[in-house]
Amino acid sequence: MLLKWAGGKSWLTRNHPYIFHNEESLFSRSLTHPSIEYKKYIDPFLGGGAVFKHLQPNESLISDVNKELIAFYQCLKSTPEKLFNEVANHFKFHCEDYYYETRDTVQKKNILIAARFLYLNYTCFNGIYRVNSSNKFNVPIGDNDKFHYSLEDFKKHSKALKNAKIKNQDFKDTIYESEAGDLLYIDPPYVTQSNNSTFDMYSSKIFSWQDQIELSVLLEDKRKEGVHIIISNINDIEIINLYPIRNGWKHTMLDRANSLAYRPKGKKYKEIVISNI
Ligand SMILES: C[S@@+](CC[C@H](N)C(=O)[O-])C[C@H]1O[C@@H](n2cnc3c(N)ncnc32)[C@H](O)[C@@H]1O
Repeated sequence: MLLKWAGGKSWLTRNHPYIFHNEESLFSRSLTHPSIEYKKYIDPFLGGGAVFKHLQPNESLISDVNKELIAFYQCLKSTPEKLFNEVANHFKFHCEDYYYETRDTVQKKNILIAARFLYLNYTCFNGIYRVNSSNKFNVPIGDNDKFHYSLEDFKKHSKALKNAKIKNQDFKDTIYESEAGDLLYIDPPYVTQSNNSTFDMYSSKIFSWQDQIELSVLLEDKRKEGVHIIISNINDIEIINLYPIRNGWKHTMLDRANSLAYRPKGKKYKEIVISNI
């Protein structure tokens, strides 16, 4: 939603929409509307919110550990016009000096935090979000100097968020809130036992291999309680072993491109979707 976000899943909703359908709708290829039935949509690793945007749930709980990201969604929901004006104001002054001045400014009010966040997201190098150990955003300027969205776009997204509960919290607290019949979409940082390379992305809090293990234990409990679960992750044996087929998990290997029609044997797919649906 308006953001550039590392690990964003718009490729998944665009090229593999069947992931969000039940077997019946996959069979009949009626992919225009999502047809997994669920009570509430819950997304504890919200990021750019590609799946929320795709499913357009009536009722939802969306959250992320990144404070500025959540301040942005809260303002987009409650005061889209104010947010748009603040962001447009930043763009009026955009130049290298202004970028670095804004990057070094600490804001206290939610609306100013949100506007600064969106401005930096658009103008920084490749839309990366990276902070140092003191939680200071430290990405250099990029070459984008235009903001393509209108007030109408902000209002449209605000409307889509109308019934969403938006929280800044750790994934565990959000997952605890899920109940039988809810849909949990899980898209954690791609960390494996042997590769912790996302250590400095998204927030100053590191998502570790230990977190991956705790996540899988929690999701196993939730699977037994009857929560519908869809997990995106890296296609890696260490991850696969956390969600065994014998416990009822299904594994679908994927490429970012749409390779549904042609799946050559022996090909190494980089992504995996694990689900109990
Ligand atoms: C792969 S991204 C999610 C991308 C998202 N699905 C999209 O389409 O843009 C992972 C997200 O997890 C968040 N995150 C990292 N550690 C977390 C934690 N302990 N609890 C909650 N969120 C966390 C990051 O801030 C980041 O936004």
